Amino acid sequence: MTQTLLLLPGDGIGPEVVAQAQRVAEVLVPDLQFETGLIGGASIDAHGVPLTGDTLAAAKASDAVLLGAVGGPKWVDAPRDKRPEVGLLEIRTGLDVFANLRPAYCFEALVDASSLKRDIIDGLDIMIVRELTSGVYFGQPRGIEPGVKGYDTSVYTREEIERVTRVAFEIARGRGGQVCSTEKSNVMETGLFWRQTVTALHDEEGAGVALSHMYADACAMELVRSPKQFDVILSGNLFGDILSDAAAMLTGSIGMLPSASLGVDGTPGLYEPVHGSAPDITGQGKANPCAAILSFEMALRWSLDRVDEADRLFSAVSKALDGGARTGDLGGSLTTQQMGDAIIAAL
Ligand code: NAD
Ligand code: IPM
Ligand code: MN
Repeated sequence: MTQTLLLLPGDGIGPEVVAQAQRVAEVLVPDLQFETGLIGGASIDAHGVPLTGDTLAAAKASDAVLLGAVGGPKWVDAPRDKRPEVGLLEIRTGLDVFANLRPAYCFEALVDASSLKRDIIDGLDIMIVRELTSGVYFGQPRGIEPGVKGYDTSVYTREEIERVTRVAFEIARGRGGQVCSTEKSNVMETGLFWRQTVTALHDEEGAGVALSHMYADACAMELVRSPKQFDVILSGNLFGDILSDAAAMLTGSIGMLPSASLGVDGTPGLYEPVHGSAPDITGQGKANPCAAILSFEMALRWSLDRVDEADRLFSAVSKALDGGARTGDLGGSLTTQQMGDAIIAAL
């Protein structure tokens, strides 16, 4: 049966990097069918909203969604419901992709591109499992009383914590067997409830997994001090956002980091680079397409059931980097398109 990949290039460098991922996909999986839609600022400009019902329906009907990035200076002052980032939050909740997998993997060729010393990151391989559809990003009430106060609500239910924790356990069993759960249980009620819930679930369902806990701020510090101590890091929505940006820089550049957002079995996954729309380099051919290409690699692995092709693609990216292919963020001079060429040549 033909599989469909919905491309949502979005804004800024999104279309530039997704174009390279599509070229790679066409070479690697010739029978894959593509559809394209608008999200973020591109959708606001065309339809007045950052995600239309039609686009969400197309996403639900696809086998996987590959998203570029959303946002940019053009929409910064718009009211919140007319902001590109809301489209991203809506597609995440619309697909109910509650488990966001953000691997931080340091390619051998890039060890010296990191700002950290070689021995600290050589062989680094971390998986951050970030809860993606709840927590303070979505809790009610929230609002601004102009000139008086702004407020958000941090809330997690037991079911929400348990389902993402199960994913973290499952992933850990397939790798180093360790999960480090992060929160701020020293100051936040949601943090304490998170720790209690993860601990109780581990007692019941944690066979084969060594569980530890760390305050999220300490985890940020440890990620920079000694990142190889981590195997799987489990976190809520907000701390996972921050910890994954920190982990990104261990790998050399945020332009290298892919992500997969998964829901219950049988629903389409959402795949996107961890980076944003990078307005500072948009339209200059400078964007590193690796995060988008590796996001497609994750789609092959986690949604399209094409593990062989995923392995081939991962090797091709590694080989291209070994051969010296580098965009500017990695200290090289290749354009976005030339980086795509190098990976296709390595395939
Ligand atoms: P950003 O990730 O867009 O950029 C941070 C820095 O990293 C910039 O200097 C940028 O040039 C660089 N960078 C990012 N991706 C790169 C790539 N592929 N190759 C080379 N360099 C790269 O983060 P920001 O500047 O904080 O945010 C810009 C906009 O993107 C904002 O509107 C923000 O809300 C949005 N954003 C969107 C997503 C997403 O769509 N998933 C993620 C993060 C931020
Ligand atoms: C990310 C981004 C998004 C988030 C924003 C753009 C909504 O920073 O995917 O990391 O905070 O989740
Ligand atoms: Mn982020």
